[in-house]
Formats: sequence, structure tokens, C-alpha cells
Amino acid sequence: MNPAVFVDALQNELQHIQYGQNPLELYEPIRYIMNLGGKRMRPLMTLMSAYLFTDDWQKAIRPALAVEVFHNFTLMHDDIMDQAPLRRGQPTVHEKWNHNIAILSGDVMLVNAYQLLLDVEADKLKRVMNRFTRTAAEVCEGQQLDMNFETRWDVTEAEYIEMIRLKTSVLLGYALELGGLIAGVDDETTRHLYEGGMNIGIGFQLKDDLLDVYGDPVKFGKQVGGDIIANKKTFLLIEALEKADGALREELNDWLNQAEFDKAEKVQAVTAIYDRLGIRQSTEERINNYFDHGFTNFDQIRADPDRKNLLIQFARQLVERES
Ligand code: IPE
Ligand code: IPE
Ligand code: MG
Ligand code: MG
Ligand code: MG
Repeated sequence: MNPAVFVDALQNELQHIQYGQNPLELYEPIRYIMNLGGKRMRPLMTLMSAYLFTDDWQKAIRPALAVEVFHNFTLMHDDIMDQAPLRRGQPTVHEKWNHNIAILSGDVMLVNAYQLLLDVEADKLKRVMNRFTRTAAEVCEGQQLDMNFETRWDVTEAEYIEMIRLKTSVLLGYALELGGLIAGVDDETTRHLYEGGMNIGIGFQLKDDLLDVYGDPVKFGKQVGGDIIANKKTFLLIEALEKADGALREELNDWLNQAEFDKAEKVQAVTAIYDRLGIRQSTEERINNYFDHGFTNFDQIRADPDRKNLLIQFARQLVERES
């Protein structure tokens, strides 16, 4: 099987989703953000997961897209919270329209996600819905922690990992679990899928934090340095706060405490401090660790090796991604 088959199947079904027409201001931003593309990795993971256990992976297409629509809803609201100007190389919804439109369009997308998930067969629906609802609440919990941490200075690495587990990883875990649930696998397999997705999700968010500092703005499609501007407690900053001492620590503290600053200047200065502390290397090591944990979880899944390889190869690309 060529993974392009999954991509095409998703793309094709995406074009058939009816989000709504009136009022246009409510629905146009949904089509806008959904058409900006993105990697579509969550629904792809759901399809690859279903395909591990069944030839009838097509029945997972609409539920997989529920995860993608939900993801895009979280991005629309996240961009308001993070005051982000760019998403996938284009203006964010709240910039192109306004905050209220981004809030309400996002709300409808959450509802749309539930609608798409209703496609799951009746005997599996309740479990799928329960797990989705729990996951969605956890994403909000993670997002709130992310905001809380902006004004805290004593965030530990363990707290950071728990925050990204909630805001990002549980959804990747769910994306994989969903494929298994639809295919009707046993509880042990469901657990390996979920935990594999979770570990890869933590590595994935660590990589996102790394790209936020070291990414190529064109490839990344988001404002580089946004996390530094907002004093986000990323792994990079927590490491830097742990490692820096003397004059370097003072310089870092000065930047973090400045209420008024030139954004580009702060980004450049904090990045230079990261460089001196070797933060890039230690973050990369950590990324590899979490991905390796994820691959160990995948090892325990009993499925056709070739099919499993599709998933593993896909996940491997995420370690090296630049967008
Ligand atoms: C962005 O997710 C939000 C994070 C969890 C880091 P993606 O990097 O999957 O975004 P798209 O969908 O490919 O644009
Ligand atoms: C947010 O993490 C992940 C979500 C749950 C939306 P980020 O705030 O780092 O995501 P990006 O970098 O804006 O995509
Ligand atoms: Mg955010
Ligand atoms: Mg953000
Ligand atoms: Mg980010």
C-alpha cells in the first residue's frame, strides 16, 4: 500500500464535507482554515492505524476527518490565545476576520467534529465518543496550563511535559486509538496504540517548540520566535533557565522581565543565549528519546509487519520535519 492512497482518500472526502452557508462570516473561515492544508497527520494516523487491523480502512475516513476538524478548531482558538499572525503561511482567522468570528467559527467546527464522528458503527460509537470527549477536555486543560505557565517562572520540566501531553499528545494518541477502536481491536492493542501516539506526540510538540526558534519561517509557516515573545515555558526556555548562570542568567532574566521590547531584538537575543547553552542539541536528544519510546510501543502491537512499517516510516519523518 502506498500512503498516497490514504492522503487521496482523505482529500477526496474533505471536499464533500458541508460545513454550512449562512451566515457566510461563520462558515467561510472554516473553509479557509481547512483549505490551508497542513500535514493532515492525525487523520492519516487514524487510517494507518485502522489498516493495521482491517482491509476495510475506508470506514475510518470520516471519523479520521473528525479528528482533523477538531484539530483545526483548536488551532483557530490557539491562534487567538497566542496572538499569532500566521498559520500555514497565511493570515490567521482572527487577523483576517476578527476575534469573535474566530471564536464562533471554531465553536461550529467542534460541533462538526462530533457530527463526523457519528459515522462510526453503532456498537463502537459510545466508546469512541467517550474517549473523544475526554480527549477534547484534556486538550483544553493543556491549553489552560500553557497560558498559566506564561506568567510563572518556576515551571519544572515535568510540569511542561504534562502540559504538552495534554495540549498535543492525547490527540495523537486518540488518532491512533480511534483506528483500532473502529477496527475492533482488543484493549491491550488499544493501549499500545494510544501510548505510542502519546510518546510520539510529546516528541512532536518538542519539535514544534524547537522549530518555533530554529525553523525556516517559510517552511514552518508560522511566526518564528512567537514562543520567545510570549515567554512560553517551552522545553528550550526551561532548559536555559536551568543551565544559565552568572551574566548569561542575568541577561536572560532581563529579557524575560521586560514589559516593552523590540520583538525581533528579543527573539535574536534569547536565541543567542540558547545557542551558547547548547539548547538545540539537548532538545533534539529529548525529541529522539520520546520518538524511540513511541516505536517501542509500536513494537508490541501484533499486526502485519509491512502495514506496521507504513506507520513507523510515517512517524520517522516527523522527527526530521521542517514544517
Ligand atoms: C500544530 O499542529 C499544533 C501542534 C500541536 C504543534 P501541526 O503541526 O500538525 O499543524 P498542521 O495541521 O500540520 O498545520
Ligand atoms: C498548541 O501548541 C497546540 C494546540 C493544542 C492547538 P502551539 O501553540 O505551540 O501550536 P502552534 O505552534 O501555534 O501550532
Ligand atoms: Mg499555543
Ligand atoms: Mg500557538
Ligand atoms: Mg508552537
